[in-house]
Amino acid sequence: MSFIWVLKLKVSEKIREEIEASLISLNATVTSIEDDKNSHLLKPELYTTSAFFIKKPKVDLIKFILLNYGIKCDKINLKKIKIEEIYKAHSNTLQPINIGSFKYSESKNKKNFLIKKNIIIPAGLGFGTGHHASTQGNIYMLCKVYLKNNITRKNIIDIGCGSGILGITMAKLWKKEIELIDIDKQSVKTSKENAKLNDVNTLIKVYKGNGLIKTNKPNYDIIVMNILANTIMNNIKLIKKKLNKNGRVLLSGILKNQKFMILNKLRTMGLILEAEYIIDGWITLLIKK
Ligand SMILES: C[S@@+](CC[C@H](N)C(=O)[O-])C[C@H]1O[C@@H](n2cnc3c(N)ncnc32)[C@H](O)[C@@H]1O
Repeated sequence: MSFIWVLKLKVSEKIREEIEASLISLNATVTSIEDDKNSHLLKPELYTTSAFFIKKPKVDLIKFILLNYGIKCDKINLKKIKIEEIYKAHSNTLQPINIGSFKYSESKNKKNFLIKKNIIIPAGLGFGTGHHASTQGNIYMLCKVYLKNNITRKNIIDIGCGSGILGITMAKLWKKEIELIDIDKQSVKTSKENAKLNDVNTLIKVYKGNGLIKTNKPNYDIIVMNILANTIMNNIKLIKKKLNKNGRVLLSGILKNQKFMILNKLRTMGLILEAEYIIDGWITLLIKK
């Protein structure tokens, strides 16, 4: 049976991003939701932050981090939960969402399905329904790249494909073969299923891998990564090596306070920032070689 450890905290807006970044550095997946759903404040003051850990985190380490931000914690609200319980609790259907020229929805009902507009991504075992700001930023950036006609689009790869949402979007944009990689075998399976659901399975080639270490082709014109900042950092040398001249890399999954760490490293490698989006504190960077 698979379990996950969930840590819940109430944090003020002032320290929220730093706490989120510290928890992410412990390999947690983190979400923060406004604490008072009825306040309708443009800038909420208090959040409930949830951190999801695949392996049980060290409670002393969490206490240490929280103490650094002045949060006293004799008891930590860390619960071991069956993964299927989480799915049950969040089984409400997501509202369809428009991003760029696409409409992403969960429904498998293909009535009125337009191959150019509709993308079906059922909420499931791979990250990415289009509702997270880092996925949205990457899709907006892809639509921007699509409109530039001076970019070669021969070899394209999506690292950390999750549900396959970015790869499927690119297959629909460019009608070209797209390579997808994820470190998680369930995400590989889900991406294959979603490619089939969206009638692009002949274009999508998915396999398990770690970043850009082992890829089918030696070089790429477009590399897409919506992944944690530390994984991006670990792949920067390979990005430089595997990106063709005049190629583009689209990076998201970056928090505001991690941006310069990544940009500085890219700059030292001679890679140039071309455009940037920020949505809900999540940054997407378009980088050119
Ligand atoms: C934030 S999700 C992004 C999913 C999807 N591409 C999207 O934009 O919504 C990050 C994905 O990267 C995968 N991942 C994490 N580390 C990786 C690595 N070193 N190599 C390949 N995939 C990785 C995770 O399993 C997860 O599916």
